[in-house]
Amino acid sequence: MADVTILTGRVLVTRDSPFDVTPDAAMVVEEAVAIAEGRIMAVGAQHDLLAAHPAAQVEAYGDKLILPGFVDAHVHYPQTAIIASWGKRLIDWLNSYTFPEEMRFGDPAYAAEIAARYFDLTAAQGTTTMCSFCTIHPESVEAFFAEAQRRRQRVVAGKTCMDRNAPDGLRDSVQSAYDDSKTLLERWHGVGRGSYAITPRFSPTSTREQLTALGALWAEHPEALMQTHLSEQTDEIAWVRELFPEARDYLDTYEAAGLLGPGGLYGHAIHLDPRERARLREVEASLVHCPTSNTFIGSGLFDMAGLMAEGHRIGLATDTGGGSSFSMLRTMAAAYEIGQLRHTPLHPAQLLWLATAGSARALRLEEQIGCIAPGMEADLVVLDLASTPAIAQRAAHAENIWEAVFPTIMMGDDRAVADVWIGGRPWSGRA
Ligand code: GUN
Ligand code: ZN
Repeated sequence: MADVTILTGRVLVTRDSPFDVTPDAAMVVEEAVAIAEGRIMAVGAQHDLLAAHPAAQVEAYGDKLILPGFVDAHVHYPQTAIIASWGKRLIDWLNSYTFPEEMRFGDPAYAAEIAARYFDLTAAQGTTTMCSFCTIHPESVEAFFAEAQRRRQRVVAGKTCMDRNAPDGLRDSVQSAYDDSKTLLERWHGVGRGSYAITPRFSPTSTREQLTALGALWAEHPEALMQTHLSEQTDEIAWVRELFPEARDYLDTYEAAGLLGPGGLYGHAIHLDPRERARLREVEASLVHCPTSNTFIGSGLFDMAGLMAEGHRIGLATDTGGGSSFSMLRTMAAAYEIGQLRHTPLHPAQLLWLATAGSARALRLEEQIGCIAPGMEADLVVLDLASTPAIAQRAAHAENIWEAVFPTIMMGDDRAVADVWIGGRPWSGRA
Protein backbone atom coordinates (compact mmCIF):
# COMPACT_ATOMS: atom_id res chain seq x y z
CA MET A 1 0.00 0.00 0.00
CA ALA A 2 1.16 3.51 -0.77
CA ASP A 3 2.83 5.64 1.90
CA VAL A 4 0.21 7.75 3.60
CA THR A 5 0.82 11.07 5.32
CA ILE A 6 -1.76 12.60 7.63
CA LEU A 7 -1.68 16.33 8.28
CA THR A 8 -3.58 17.40 11.37
CA GLY A 9 -4.65 20.95 12.10
CA ARG A 10 -7.60 23.07 11.09
CA VAL A 11 -8.36 21.88 7.55
CA LEU A 12 -10.47 24.23 5.46
CA VAL A 13 -12.79 22.20 3.27
CA THR A 14 -14.62 23.95 0.44
CA ARG A 15 -18.07 22.60 -0.36
CA ASP A 16 -19.48 25.38 -2.47
CA SER A 17 -18.87 28.94 -3.58
CA PRO A 18 -19.34 31.56 -0.85
CA PHE A 19 -20.65 33.80 -3.61
CA ASP A 20 -23.58 31.37 -3.98
CA VAL A 21 -24.19 30.17 -0.41
CA THR A 22 -23.37 31.49 3.07
CA PRO A 23 -19.73 31.34 4.22
CA ASP A 24 -20.45 28.59 6.73
CA ALA A 25 -22.28 26.51 4.14
CA ALA A 26 -19.46 27.06 1.63
CA MET A 27 -16.53 26.13 3.85
CA VAL A 28 -16.16 23.96 6.93
CA VAL A 29 -13.22 23.11 9.16
CA GLU A 30 -12.13 19.49 9.53
CA GLU A 31 -9.36 18.06 11.71
CA ALA A 32 -7.15 16.12 9.34
CA VAL A 33 -6.29 15.37 5.74
CA ALA A 34 -4.67 12.15 4.48
CA ILE A 35 -2.50 12.23 1.37
CA ALA A 36 -0.82 9.53 -0.72
CA GLU A 37 0.85 9.42 -4.12
CA GLY A 38 0.49 13.16 -4.58
CA ARG A 39 -3.25 13.21 -4.01
CA ILE A 40 -5.69 13.79 -1.22
CA MET A 41 -7.14 10.48 -0.04
CA ALA A 42 -9.48 11.53 2.73
CA VAL A 43 -10.53 14.45 4.90
CA GLY A 44 -12.23 14.17 8.26
CA ALA A 45 -11.88 13.59 11.99
CA GLN A 46 -8.33 13.01 13.20
CA HIS A 47 -9.29 9.87 15.11
CA ASP A 48 -10.95 8.28 12.08
CA LEU A 49 -8.07 8.99 9.70
CA LEU A 50 -5.43 7.78 12.16
CA ALA A 51 -7.44 4.61 12.81
CA ALA A 52 -7.83 3.95 9.09
CA HIS A 53 -4.10 4.46 8.44
CA PRO A 54 -2.21 3.33 11.55
CA ALA A 55 1.13 3.26 9.68
CA ALA A 56 0.76 6.80 8.36
CA GLN A 57 3.38 9.43 8.94
CA VAL A 58 1.76 12.27 10.89
CA GLU A 59 2.48 15.98 10.55
CA ALA A 60 0.82 17.73 13.48
CA TYR A 61 0.12 21.39 12.76
CA GLY A 62 -1.79 22.17 15.97
CA ASP A 63 -4.22 25.04 15.42
CA LYS A 64 -2.66 26.14 12.13
CA LEU A 65 -4.95 26.44 9.12
CA ILE A 66 -4.45 23.97 6.27
CA LEU A 67 -5.71 25.33 2.96
CA PRO A 68 -5.42 24.43 -0.71
CA GLY A 69 -2.21 25.97 -2.11
CA PHE A 70 -2.84 29.42 -3.52
CA VAL A 71 -3.56 29.70 -7.24
CA ASP A 72 -2.35 32.89 -8.92
CA ALA A 73 -4.32 33.20 -12.15
CA HIS A 74 -2.29 35.89 -13.95
CA VAL A 75 1.42 36.65 -13.56
CA HIS A 76 4.40 37.68 -15.63
CA TYR A 77 7.33 35.72 -14.23
CA PRO A 78 9.79 37.66 -16.46
CA GLN A 79 8.87 40.82 -14.55
CA THR A 80 10.16 39.41 -11.24
CA ALA A 81 13.24 41.65 -11.22
CA ILE A 82 11.34 44.87 -12.00
CA ILE A 83 8.53 44.55 -9.46
CA ALA A 84 7.87 47.83 -7.62
CA SER A 85 9.14 50.19 -10.32
CA TRP A 86 8.06 53.74 -9.62
CA GLY A 87 5.81 56.34 -11.07
CA LYS A 88 4.37 55.21 -14.42
CA ARG A 89 0.99 54.30 -15.77
CA LEU A 90 0.43 51.27 -17.99
CA ILE A 91 1.87 52.18 -21.39
CA ASP A 92 4.83 54.16 -19.98
CA TRP A 93 5.41 51.45 -17.40
CA LEU A 94 5.61 48.84 -20.18
CA ASN A 95 8.01 50.95 -22.25
CA SER A 96 10.18 52.15 -19.37
CA TYR A 97 10.56 49.06 -17.22
CA THR A 98 8.92 45.97 -18.67
CA PHE A 99 10.08 45.79 -22.26
CA PRO A 100 13.79 46.42 -21.48
CA GLU A 101 13.71 43.63 -18.88
CA GLU A 102 11.77 41.21 -21.11
CA MET A 103 14.43 41.74 -23.80
CA ARG A 104 16.84 39.74 -21.65
CA PHE A 105 14.90 36.47 -21.84
CA GLY A 106 16.37 35.36 -25.16
CA ASP A 107 19.27 34.23 -22.97
CA PRO A 108 18.33 30.76 -21.66
CA ALA A 109 20.60 31.11 -18.62
CA TYR A 110 18.95 34.34 -17.55
CA ALA A 111 15.47 32.90 -18.16
CA ALA A 112 16.35 29.86 -16.03
CA GLU A 113 17.75 32.04 -13.25
CA ILE A 114 14.63 34.18 -13.04
CA ALA A 115 12.27 31.20 -13.33
CA ALA A 116 13.98 29.54 -10.34
CA ARG A 117 13.93 32.81 -8.40
CA TYR A 118 10.26 33.33 -9.22
CA PHE A 119 9.26 29.83 -8.06
CA ASP A 120 11.25 30.26 -4.82
CA LEU A 121 9.65 33.61 -4.07
CA THR A 122 6.12 32.40 -4.75
CA ALA A 123 6.44 29.07 -2.92
CA ALA A 124 7.56 31.05 0.13
CA GLN A 125 4.20 32.84 -0.12
CA GLY A 126 2.20 29.61 -0.36
CA THR A 127 1.46 29.84 -4.09
CA THR A 128 1.55 26.40 -5.68
CA THR A 129 0.05 27.10 -9.13
CA MET A 130 0.30 30.11 -11.38
CA CYS A 131 -0.68 31.06 -14.92
CA SER A 132 2.20 33.03 -16.40
CA PHE A 133 2.94 35.14 -19.42
CA CYS A 134 6.47 34.51 -20.65
CA THR A 135 8.24 36.76 -23.22
CA ILE A 136 8.36 36.58 -27.02
CA HIS A 137 11.34 34.21 -26.68
CA PRO A 138 10.66 30.45 -26.77
CA GLU A 139 13.63 30.19 -24.35
CA SER A 140 11.55 31.96 -21.71
CA VAL A 141 8.79 29.37 -22.06
CA GLU A 142 11.20 26.44 -21.95
CA ALA A 143 12.80 27.81 -18.79
CA PHE A 144 9.47 28.22 -17.04
CA PHE A 145 8.01 24.81 -17.85
CA ALA A 146 11.34 23.04 -17.19
CA GLU A 147 11.64 24.62 -13.75
CA ALA A 148 7.99 23.83 -12.95
CA GLN A 149 8.57 20.20 -13.92
CA ARG A 150 11.61 19.97 -11.69
CA ARG A 151 9.44 21.17 -8.82
CA ARG A 152 6.44 19.04 -9.89
CA GLN A 153 4.24 22.14 -9.89
CA ARG A 154 0.98 22.55 -11.73
CA VAL A 155 1.39 25.58 -13.99
CA VAL A 156 -0.06 27.26 -17.04
CA ALA A 157 2.10 29.42 -19.31
CA GLY A 158 2.62 30.57 -22.86
CA LYS A 159 4.85 32.53 -25.18
CA THR A 160 3.82 36.19 -25.18
CA CYS A 161 3.20 37.29 -28.77
CA MET A 162 3.82 40.87 -30.00
CA ASP A 163 4.40 41.98 -33.58
CA ARG A 164 3.97 45.74 -33.23
CA ASN A 165 4.31 48.66 -30.80
CA ALA A 166 7.19 46.99 -29.03
CA PRO A 167 10.91 47.77 -29.38
CA ASP A 168 13.33 46.13 -31.78
CA GLY A 169 14.35 42.79 -30.40
CA LEU A 170 11.01 42.29 -28.68
CA ARG A 171 8.77 41.64 -31.66
CA ASP A 172 7.92 38.39 -33.36
CA SER A 173 5.89 38.11 -36.57
CA VAL A 174 2.56 36.63 -37.59
CA GLN A 175 4.22 33.44 -38.77
CA SER A 176 6.79 33.02 -36.00
CA ALA A 177 4.19 33.71 -33.30
CA TYR A 178 1.99 30.98 -34.77
CA ASP A 179 4.84 28.52 -35.38
CA ASP A 180 6.59 29.02 -32.05
CA SER A 181 3.33 28.93 -30.07
CA LYS A 182 2.29 25.73 -31.84
CA THR A 183 5.63 24.05 -31.23
CA LEU A 184 5.65 25.05 -27.56
CA LEU A 185 2.01 24.03 -27.09
CA GLU A 186 2.64 20.61 -28.59
CA ARG A 187 5.81 20.24 -26.52
CA TRP A 188 4.42 21.27 -23.12
CA HIS A 189 0.62 21.01 -22.97
CA GLY A 190 -0.31 18.09 -20.74
CA VAL A 191 3.31 17.27 -19.95
CA GLY A 192 3.74 16.65 -16.23
CA ARG A 193 1.45 19.13 -14.53
CA GLY A 194 1.72 21.79 -17.24
CA SER A 195 -0.85 23.35 -19.53
CA TYR A 196 -0.26 25.73 -22.38
CA ALA A 197 -2.00 29.08 -22.83
CA ILE A 198 -1.89 30.77 -26.24
CA THR A 199 -0.77 34.28 -25.26
CA PRO A 200 -1.27 37.39 -27.36
CA ARG A 201 -0.05 40.11 -24.95
CA PHE A 202 -2.91 42.52 -25.78
CA SER A 203 -4.44 44.08 -28.85
CA PRO A 204 -2.13 47.13 -29.00
CA THR A 205 0.94 44.93 -29.50
CA SER A 206 -0.54 42.50 -32.02
CA THR A 207 -1.64 43.17 -35.57
CA ARG A 208 -5.05 41.95 -36.65
CA GLU A 209 -3.21 39.30 -38.66
CA GLN A 210 -1.32 38.05 -35.63
CA LEU A 211 -4.47 37.89 -33.51
CA THR A 212 -6.20 35.96 -36.30
CA ALA A 213 -3.31 33.49 -36.64
CA LEU A 214 -3.42 32.84 -32.89
CA GLY A 215 -7.19 32.45 -33.08
CA ALA A 216 -6.65 29.80 -35.76
CA LEU A 217 -4.14 28.02 -33.54
CA TRP A 218 -6.66 28.01 -30.68
CA ALA A 219 -9.28 26.52 -32.99
CA GLU A 220 -6.82 23.75 -33.85
CA HIS A 221 -6.03 23.24 -30.14
CA PRO A 222 -9.19 23.97 -28.16
CA GLU A 223 -7.73 21.98 -25.26
CA ALA A 224 -5.27 24.83 -24.65
CA LEU A 225 -6.15 27.98 -22.73
CA MET A 226 -5.82 31.49 -24.16
CA GLN A 227 -4.70 34.42 -22.01
CA THR A 228 -4.49 38.13 -22.68
CA HIS A 229 -5.29 41.56 -21.20
CA LEU A 230 -8.56 43.43 -21.54
CA SER A 231 -9.70 46.96 -20.65
CA GLU A 232 -7.15 47.69 -17.96
CA GLN A 233 -6.71 51.48 -18.37
CA THR A 234 -8.78 54.13 -20.10
CA ASP A 235 -5.78 55.37 -22.18
CA GLU A 236 -5.21 51.82 -23.37
CA ILE A 237 -8.86 51.49 -24.40
CA ALA A 238 -8.68 54.76 -26.37
CA TRP A 239 -5.55 53.46 -28.13
CA VAL A 240 -7.29 50.20 -29.03
CA ARG A 241 -10.14 52.27 -30.51
CA GLU A 242 -7.63 54.10 -32.76
CA LEU A 243 -5.83 50.90 -33.77
CA PHE A 244 -9.04 48.95 -34.50
CA PRO A 245 -11.57 51.53 -35.80
CA GLU A 246 -13.81 48.76 -37.14
CA ALA A 247 -14.15 46.99 -33.77
CA ARG A 248 -17.32 47.41 -31.72
CA ASP A 249 -15.28 47.55 -28.52
CA TYR A 250 -12.03 46.21 -27.05
CA LEU A 251 -13.37 42.66 -26.64
CA ASP A 252 -14.39 42.65 -30.29
CA THR A 253 -10.71 42.90 -31.32
CA TYR A 254 -10.30 39.43 -29.81
CA GLU A 255 -13.72 38.12 -30.77
CA ALA A 256 -13.21 38.96 -34.47
CA ALA A 257 -9.95 37.02 -34.39
CA GLY A 258 -11.37 33.86 -32.81
CA LEU A 259 -9.88 34.73 -29.43
CA LEU A 260 -13.06 34.69 -27.38
CA GLY A 261 -14.30 31.49 -25.83
CA PRO A 262 -14.39 29.20 -22.84
CA GLY A 263 -10.80 28.69 -21.78
CA GLY A 264 -10.15 32.37 -22.51
CA LEU A 265 -8.60 34.29 -19.62
CA TYR A 266 -8.97 38.06 -19.68
CA GLY A 267 -6.74 39.90 -17.21
CA HIS A 268 -7.97 43.07 -15.48
CA ALA A 269 -11.33 43.54 -17.30
CA ILE A 270 -12.04 46.72 -15.35
CA HIS A 271 -13.69 49.14 -17.77
CA LEU A 272 -16.14 46.86 -19.57
CA ASP A 273 -19.12 47.93 -21.67
CA PRO A 274 -22.46 46.13 -21.25
CA ARG A 275 -21.94 44.24 -24.54
CA GLU A 276 -18.52 43.05 -23.42
CA ARG A 277 -19.88 41.87 -20.08
CA ALA A 278 -22.73 40.03 -21.74
CA ARG A 279 -20.51 38.30 -24.32
CA LEU A 280 -17.89 37.28 -21.77
CA ARG A 281 -20.64 35.77 -19.65
CA GLU A 282 -22.35 34.09 -22.59
CA VAL A 283 -19.21 32.25 -23.70
CA GLU A 284 -18.22 31.44 -20.09
CA ALA A 285 -14.85 33.11 -20.39
CA SER A 286 -12.77 33.80 -17.28
CA LEU A 287 -12.01 37.25 -15.88
CA VAL A 288 -8.96 37.73 -13.70
CA HIS A 289 -8.94 40.36 -10.96
CA CYS A 290 -5.47 41.81 -10.29
CA PRO A 291 -6.07 44.18 -7.36
CA THR A 292 -2.53 45.16 -6.29
CA SER A 293 -1.68 45.86 -9.92
CA ASN A 294 -4.82 47.86 -10.48
CA THR A 295 -3.98 50.18 -7.60
CA PHE A 296 -0.21 50.21 -8.22
CA ILE A 297 -0.48 51.14 -11.93
CA GLY A 298 -3.56 53.25 -11.22
CA SER A 299 -5.96 51.30 -13.45
CA GLY A 300 -9.30 51.30 -11.60
CA LEU A 301 -11.69 49.35 -9.42
CA PHE A 302 -12.81 45.92 -10.68
CA ASP A 303 -16.55 45.32 -10.24
CA MET A 304 -16.35 42.02 -8.36
CA ALA A 305 -19.83 42.17 -6.85
CA GLY A 306 -21.57 43.14 -10.09
CA LEU A 307 -19.72 40.62 -12.23
CA MET A 308 -20.21 37.80 -9.72
CA ALA A 309 -23.92 38.61 -9.58
CA GLU A 310 -24.03 38.24 -13.37
CA GLY A 311 -22.46 34.79 -13.02
CA HIS A 312 -18.97 35.41 -14.36
CA ARG A 313 -16.12 32.98 -13.79
CA ILE A 314 -13.53 35.04 -11.89
CA GLY A 315 -10.02 34.34 -10.64
CA LEU A 316 -7.63 36.33 -8.48
CA ALA A 317 -4.05 37.22 -9.33
CA THR A 318 -0.96 39.17 -8.36
CA ASP A 319 -0.09 40.27 -11.93
CA THR A 320 3.57 40.26 -10.87
CA GLY A 321 5.42 42.64 -11.63
CA GLY A 322 2.65 45.18 -12.45
CA GLY A 323 1.26 43.93 -9.17
CA SER A 324 3.27 45.05 -6.17
CA SER A 325 3.48 41.72 -4.33
CA PHE A 326 4.12 38.01 -4.87
CA SER A 327 1.75 37.23 -1.99
CA MET A 328 -1.81 36.03 -2.47
CA LEU A 329 -2.50 37.14 1.13
CA ARG A 330 -1.57 40.71 0.16
CA THR A 331 -3.63 40.24 -3.03
CA MET A 332 -6.70 39.17 -1.04
CA ALA A 333 -6.21 42.22 1.20
CA ALA A 334 -6.14 44.49 -1.86
CA ALA A 335 -9.27 42.80 -3.23
CA TYR A 336 -10.95 43.49 0.09
CA GLU A 337 -9.91 47.16 -0.03
CA ILE A 338 -11.18 47.59 -3.58
CA GLY A 339 -14.45 45.96 -2.52
CA GLN A 340 -14.69 48.51 0.30
CA LEU A 341 -14.11 51.40 -2.11
CA ARG A 342 -17.04 50.04 -4.15
CA HIS A 343 -19.18 49.58 -1.00
CA THR A 344 -19.17 45.80 -1.49
CA PRO A 345 -16.78 44.29 1.07
CA LEU A 346 -15.75 40.70 0.40
CA HIS A 347 -16.14 38.13 3.17
CA PRO A 348 -12.96 36.26 4.24
CA ALA A 349 -14.50 33.06 2.84
CA GLN A 350 -14.97 34.79 -0.51
CA LEU A 351 -11.36 36.04 -0.50
CA LEU A 352 -9.98 32.59 0.32
CA TRP A 353 -12.24 30.98 -2.27
CA LEU A 354 -11.06 33.40 -4.97
CA ALA A 355 -7.40 32.63 -4.16
CA THR A 356 -7.97 28.87 -4.37
CA ALA A 357 -11.08 27.30 -5.94
CA GLY A 358 -12.07 30.46 -7.83
CA SER A 359 -8.72 30.83 -9.55
CA ALA A 360 -8.57 27.08 -10.20
CA ARG A 361 -11.99 27.31 -11.85
CA ALA A 362 -10.89 30.32 -13.90
CA LEU A 363 -7.96 28.21 -15.16
CA ARG A 364 -10.29 25.25 -15.82
CA LEU A 365 -8.33 23.24 -13.27
CA GLU A 366 -11.11 22.80 -10.72
CA GLU A 367 -10.99 19.02 -11.09
CA GLN A 368 -7.32 18.99 -10.11
CA ILE A 369 -6.56 21.79 -7.64
CA GLY A 370 -8.11 24.49 -5.46
CA CYS A 371 -10.04 22.32 -2.98
CA ILE A 372 -9.14 19.83 -0.28
CA ALA A 373 -11.20 16.79 -1.29
CA PRO A 374 -10.49 13.14 -2.10
CA GLY A 375 -8.85 12.74 -5.51
CA MET A 376 -7.58 16.29 -5.73
CA GLU A 377 -3.87 16.94 -6.11
CA ALA A 378 -2.16 17.49 -2.76
CA ASP A 379 -1.01 21.10 -3.03
CA LEU A 380 -1.44 22.66 0.39
CA VAL A 381 -0.44 25.73 2.36
CA VAL A 382 -0.31 25.74 6.14
CA LEU A 383 -0.94 29.16 7.69
CA ASP A 384 0.08 30.32 11.15
CA LEU A 385 -2.78 32.61 12.16
CA ALA A 386 -0.63 34.28 14.85
CA SER A 387 2.54 34.96 12.84
CA THR A 388 3.29 38.42 14.22
CA PRO A 389 2.45 40.09 17.54
CA ALA A 390 -0.01 42.44 15.82
CA ILE A 391 -1.85 39.58 14.11
CA ALA A 392 -1.72 37.34 17.18
CA GLN A 393 -3.28 39.90 19.52
CA ARG A 394 -6.18 40.42 17.11
CA ALA A 395 -6.70 36.73 16.37
CA ALA A 396 -6.58 35.89 20.09
CA HIS A 397 -10.13 37.07 20.64
CA ALA A 398 -11.63 35.81 17.38
CA GLU A 399 -15.03 34.28 17.84
CA ASN A 400 -15.02 32.10 14.74
CA ILE A 401 -12.75 30.88 11.95
CA TRP A 402 -13.44 33.93 9.81
CA GLU A 403 -12.38 36.37 12.52
CA ALA A 404 -9.38 34.16 13.17
CA VAL A 405 -8.17 34.22 9.55
CA PHE A 406 -9.05 37.78 8.52
CA PRO A 407 -6.14 39.48 10.39
CA THR A 408 -3.74 37.16 8.54
CA ILE A 409 -5.40 38.00 5.21
CA MET A 410 -5.08 41.72 5.89
CA MET A 411 -1.72 41.85 7.67
CA GLY A 412 0.01 38.55 6.91
CA ASP A 413 3.06 37.92 4.75
CA ASP A 414 5.46 35.03 4.22
CA ARG A 415 5.93 34.75 7.99
CA ALA A 416 2.37 33.38 8.10
CA VAL A 417 3.27 30.57 5.69
CA ALA A 418 4.33 27.79 8.06
CA ASP A 419 4.59 25.07 5.42
CA VAL A 420 3.84 24.33 1.79
CA TRP A 421 3.10 20.95 0.20
CA ILE A 422 3.44 20.56 -3.54
CA GLY A 423 2.14 17.39 -5.19
CA GLY A 424 2.04 15.62 -1.82
CA ARG A 425 5.59 16.51 -0.83
CA PRO A 426 6.79 19.16 1.59
CA TRP A 427 8.46 22.02 -0.24
CA SER A 428 12.07 21.85 0.83
CA GLY A 429 13.22 25.27 -0.31
CA ARG A 430 12.51 27.04 2.94
CA ALA A 431 15.47 28.55 4.75
N1 GUN B 1 -0.99 44.96 -20.60
C1 GUN B 1 -0.16 44.48 -21.55
N2 GUN B 1 0.96 43.97 -21.02
C2 GUN B 1 0.86 44.10 -19.68
C3 GUN B 1 1.70 43.75 -18.60
O1 GUN B 1 2.78 43.20 -18.74
N3 GUN B 1 1.21 44.07 -17.37
C4 GUN B 1 0.02 44.67 -17.16
N4 GUN B 1 -0.38 44.94 -15.93
N5 GUN B 1 -0.78 45.01 -18.18
C5 GUN B 1 -0.37 44.73 -19.42
ZN1 ZN C 1 -0.65 41.06 -17.00
